Amino acid sequence: MLAETSPFTPGIPVPFEYFVGRRTEIERLREMVRAVKSGRPKIGLVAGERGIGKSSLVAFVRRLSERDDGAAAAHVFLGGVTELPEMVRRVFDRLLKESAEKSWHQKIRDYFGKHVKEVGLFGISVELDIPPGQLGNLVHDFVPSLRRLMSQIRDERAILLLVLDDINGLAESKAFAHWLKSLMDEIATSEQGLPLCLLLVGLEDRRESLIRQQPSLGRYFEVIDINPWEIEETKEFYNKAFASAKVSVSEDALRVMSEFAGGLPVMAHEIGDAVWRLAVPPTATLETALLGVFAAAEQIGRKMFEPQVMQEVRSERYRTILRTVGEKVFGERPILDPDIHRFKRSEIRAFLGEDEADVLDNFLRRMVNLGVLRRDPEGGRGGYSFTNRLHLVYFFIEAQRAKKEAGKRGR
Ligand SMILES: Nc1ncnc2c1ncn2[C@@H]1O[C@H](COP(=O)(O)OP(=O)(O)OP(=O)(O)O)[C@@H](O)[C@H]1O
Ligand SMILES: [Mg+2]
Repeated sequence: MLAETSPFTPGIPVPFEYFVGRRTEIERLREMVRAVKSGRPKIGLVAGERGIGKSSLVAFVRRLSERDDGAAAAHVFLGGVTELPEMVRRVFDRLLKESAEKSWHQKIRDYFGKHVKEVGLFGISVELDIPPGQLGNLVHDFVPSLRRLMSQIRDERAILLLVLDDINGLAESKAFAHWLKSLMDEIATSEQGLPLCLLLVGLEDRRESLIRQQPSLGRYFEVIDINPWEIEETKEFYNKAFASAKVSVSEDALRVMSEFAGGLPVMAHEIGDAVWRLAVPPTATLETALLGVFAAAEQIGRKMFEPQVMQEVRSERYRTILRTVGEKVFGERPILDPDIHRFKRSEIRAFLGEDEADVLDNFLRRMVNLGVLRRDPEGGRGGYSFTNRLHLVYFFIEAQRAKKEAGKRGR
């Protein structure tokens, strides 16, 4: 079917009509947002693996909080940012931009005064133009600045929700950790308070790195972990998406797509999109689903991994290893099996010939160097585990492909 009509959006936050699951997390986050109305700020840390749905979740919460809870909000993407002044500039710039369609836009513009620059044809969009020399002041005066901004729009909005997304670069910075703590302390010790809910979004281990930089920060955080989808949620997602386009999906195709997505929304979209392109209406069949799964692994490999990972995994010399992984490590286990990400060298070695043992060791070493696998001390001697679910799902699919190829060759 035509790529342009696909309801799947691999890699970008999901449109609201196709959003699935995450009820508990949504409720918890909305509670946090509502609670700051009292003037006591909160910091939430939304943590999870690549592609698990962090940005989509906070975008959804943000929209509900704006619509129903009287929040003014900004979703700021900080990928690649490592310095506070740039972070703060982006926060204020987004606040200005995101108010564009709101009734209080003029008030925000008045607040920023001469720093608002009209850009684009007919001055259709606005940008905040702050001389680099003044950014340091904004970092320092963050709390009073936000307070003044909120008092400017107090008739319309009583809560400020700031989402700082992709803080991975900043989480390593001492300055950021200290700034966060001072921010909370400054608000706590002032009489006026500030109805600010700050949601930080990042990979799982960023909480530890922030706390390492500033140990007492730990007590300010509420951590919201984002887990893989259950198989039923993945099915619900596919049913919704295909039904919206009036395409039916056979039961076995639905099962295959949902299983191979491995609980990862990013994979679910990629598979959905591939199946969409291959399907001949009115039904997506099992055969299309399998082809779609392999095509999706290819896309994920290209878009999200170091090029060497794909090269190695697809190389002839490692195919036997991969097939053995497919048969002996993954076997018939479902990919949502909680222990499937770990294995032992001996599990694979036992099924290889003498001459293949060196190839296995090379392979393991390469994968550790490329960050796909890590040595897993909990797994005992020769224990390994996948560094993240995306790598695991990719391997799972490639291992099935290697098995299938071997089957075709009659081995
Ligand atoms: N609840 C959901 N329902 C439907 N699709 C979703 C949901 N959550 C995420 N997705 C889809 O999954 C993909 C990854 O989502 P998202 O970008 O939100 O993840 P992320 O955790 O922020 O990823 P990254 O770590 O790369 O920033 C996107 O294509 C998005 O559309
Ligand atoms: Mg994201």
